[in-house]
Amino acid sequence: MGILYRSSVNRKPNDSMRLIIITFMGVFLGFLIGISFPTLSLTKLGIPSGLIPKIDEMYNTDIKAGSSTQTSQNFPSTTTGSGDKNNSHNRNGTSEIWVPSNPRGAERLAPGIVAAESDFYLHRLWGNPHEDLNTKPNYLVTFTVGYKQKENIDKAVKKFSENFTILLFHYDGRTTEWDEFEWSKRAIHVSARKQSKWWYAKRFLHPDIVAPYDYIFMWDEDLGVENFDAEEYIKLVRKHGLEISQPGLEPTRGLTWQMTKKRDGLEVHKDTAERPGWCTEPNLPPCAAFVEIMAPVFSREAWRCVWYMIQNDLIHGWGLDFAVRKCVEPAHEKIGVVDSQWIVHQGLPSLGSQGETQNGKAPWQGVRERCRKEWTMFQSRLANAEKAYFKSLGIDPSNSPKQ
Ligand SMILES: *[C@@H]1O[C@H](CO)[C@@H](O)[C@H](O)[C@H]1NC(C)=O
Ligand SMILES: *[C@@H]1O[C@H](CO)[C@@H](O)[C@H](O)[C@H]1NC(C)=O
Ligand SMILES: *[C@@H]1O[C@H](CO)[C@@H](O)[C@H](O)[C@H]1NC(C)=O
Repeated sequence: MGILYRSSVNRKPNDSMRLIIITFMGVFLGFLIGISFPTLSLTKLGIPSGLIPKIDEMYNTDIKAGSSTQTSQNFPSTTTGSGDKNNSHNRNGTSEIWVPSNPRGAERLAPGIVAAESDFYLHRLWGNPHEDLNTKPNYLVTFTVGYKQKENIDKAVKKFSENFTILLFHYDGRTTEWDEFEWSKRAIHVSARKQSKWWYAKRFLHPDIVAPYDYIFMWDEDLGVENFDAEEYIKLVRKHGLEISQPGLEPTRGLTWQMTKKRDGLEVHKDTAERPGWCTEPNLPPCAAFVEIMAPVFSREAWRCVWYMIQNDLIHGWGLDFAVRKCVEPAHEKIGVVDSQWIVHQGLPSLGSQGETQNGKAPWQGVRERCRKEWTMFQSRLANAEKAYFKSLGIDPSNSPKQ
């Protein structure tokens, strides 16, 4: 600290002696405060006062090195090791805190200190912690991106107001380049090479981490957003009670499914007619209770369920669109497509080109085959799991209501 102050004074040699004295007084005062505060609180924690200067030194070394808080994580074990007097009550369990209603693994903590959920809010490294956050965005948007799509992503991000936390998953390892965009500095960047959207989602969007967000947008990188506004979209989703939704897709683009095509003159729609034979029942996918995986929007509650449904090897996510209906009830009312805020699926090759040539097949072919394989796997796992569950209850699955 002292070194920092002095060097900044040296840069302005004309400054008077007074400044130096004030600086020193400031440093000294800061030192006193720094010393006295931990003394108060640490002695309350039962840490011997002889240890405090040592602890202070330990933390300071840490700050100067600019390293992480590794040493502070060792802190509790240091105290239990040396501060533990021969208290029989500690061993006996009578005064040990034991709260079965705490999250798993945290049962020994007093419930008042348990923070079961977190967020992506960025904090500063100084000042009062409770004054760190000016705003707490209510919504989260994630894009799985490669740097080649930067122009498209830049346009897309600008459709999301400051009420959104922006989270980019980078599959090509390029992250710092994005800082050419102003918004990139407030975005969270997660980089892992050649992974897919649902791989990231499973690993970085745990429901307890994204808990503060009312809605979570999990979008691909190849979406055209000219006719889309995120705040308006959320208004409609709330109004129509959609727990899982997507914007309508511009219909001239040879789309696979009728359900996700934008319809003119509507705010939202929740069902459709398909080609003959495509739907076994009108309330089931792909005629209702269905959105695609390219641009889904989940409510907090729906995502909490869907996250658990995503198996760790389901990385492309094919098949998920047919299954998410199991997470909301009644699905044909709570899943829908927003028509008046719509997007264009540009269908740019992205992750497909990240595959590898195998057995003489082009990379994109290998990726596509993998997608199909996942779909089959996921479908049979789901069916088998339900069969096993009904069997364990002694119910004949063929008699159970179709879900
Ligand atoms: C700690 O407790 C054990 C028995 O509970 C006793 O035998 C031992 O002497 C104690 N040690 C100290 C340092 O008080
Ligand atoms: C340990 O706990 C039991 C009850 O669980 C109690 O009867 C006993 O007195 C306790 N022993 C000590 C040393 O606190
Ligand atoms: C952000 O959210 C607040 C509160 O819901 C709202 O008043 C405001 O209009 C939103 N900002 C934008 C840009 O829509």
